[in-house]
Amino acid sequence: MSGTILVVARGWNIEPWVSRLAAALPGHRIIAGDREGEYPGPDSELAEVDYLLAWKPSATILGRLPNLKLVSSFGAGVDHLFASGALPDVAIVRIVDPDLTARMSEYVAWQCLHHLRRGFEYNRQQTARIWDDLPQPAAREVTVGIMGLGVLGADAAGVLGRIGFEVRGWSRTPKALDGVKCFADADGLDAFLGGTDILVVLVPLTKDTRGLVDRALLQRLRRGGALGGPVLINAARGGVHVEADVIAALADGTLLGASLDVFAKEPLPPESPLWGCDNLVITPHVAAVSDPAALSGQLAAQIRAFERGEPLRNRVDRSRGY
Ligand SMILES: NC(=O)c1ccc[n+]([C@@H]2O[C@H](COP(=O)([O-])OP(=O)(O)OC[C@H]3O[C@@H](n4cnc5c(N)ncnc54)[C@H](OP(=O)(O)O)[C@@H]3O)[C@@H](O)[C@H]2O)c1
Repeated sequence: MSGTILVVARGWNIEPWVSRLAAALPGHRIIAGDREGEYPGPDSELAEVDYLLAWKPSATILGRLPNLKLVSSFGAGVDHLFASGALPDVAIVRIVDPDLTARMSEYVAWQCLHHLRRGFEYNRQQTARIWDDLPQPAAREVTVGIMGLGVLGADAAGVLGRIGFEVRGWSRTPKALDGVKCFADADGLDAFLGGTDILVVLVPLTKDTRGLVDRALLQRLRRGGALGGPVLINAARGGVHVEADVIAALADGTLLGASLDVFAKEPLPPESPLWGCDNLVITPHVAAVSDPAALSGQLAAQIRAFERGEPLRNRVDRSRGY
């Protein structure tokens, strides 16, 4: 059996994906959208599409796929598929892959260490040619609290624990992870936040998590911890934090510092006041990029499994939104 695959990835160079997928799925027809996330060809071509592999597809495209059978996100997150409200009622899968997971844990460790090792101050000292050692706590005196103990959160927790941080985590349903103090649901949130020095956000963007990290939540983080104030790291989705509240918290000392990889509007507009926050690390949504060399095989395997009638891996639960 073979089918037609539409690949759409807004803002990406799609060619490396197309060539790898074509090699992995001989006999399948692959058509590609443009950099705007649109498909410029006629509806008659889209009527033949069985499989959609997508990153931020337009609502227009989603509404033009009457024979769609399967959708895969090009990444771990699927909020971009639900965002348009036009997603057909078909199976949805997402990426879970050791390459992506390792990249995220690298990012989380990098940012936690930046704040632990007083990266901002040493950068400023270097600029001013100042040789001065600053006091700093040991990792074991600092508690990192990870919001979201899924694939990425659980792996990051393991890496941070090996570095020496105290690690705690919070999830929707209860978890048991070696070396991680686990909290769950709204009932566990206060206790989780109250002992957290560095808050790492790794929850998906859903109707329940949109705007979750607001001023009131940031004020519940531990004060007087070994770092001298709480730190926020968001590597999940920009919609989970309230940007104006983070800016205010960085300005008034509610937060000692922050690292944001994700933003409500991406690319972050040049006029955003976030650029001017000197206690903030900004990265352009690169915490864990999807690498075609590492991930094309998984996308092809999902299509082959579907065609053989085998169970799909990494299914998304539509009702939960992740
Ligand atoms: N910046 C980047 O480059 C980048 C790259 C990849 C992924 N991401 C983001 O990272 C997110 C996490 O990926 P993942 O693979 O770890 O996802 P996952 O395996 O689905 O894990 C999600 C975790 O969040 C928890 N959660 C969901 N809704 C919650 C709620 N309302 N309250 C409390 N906890 C909640 C889940 O709880 P349960 O365990 O109880 O279900 C689970 O522990 C993705 O959705 C994506 O947005 C970002």
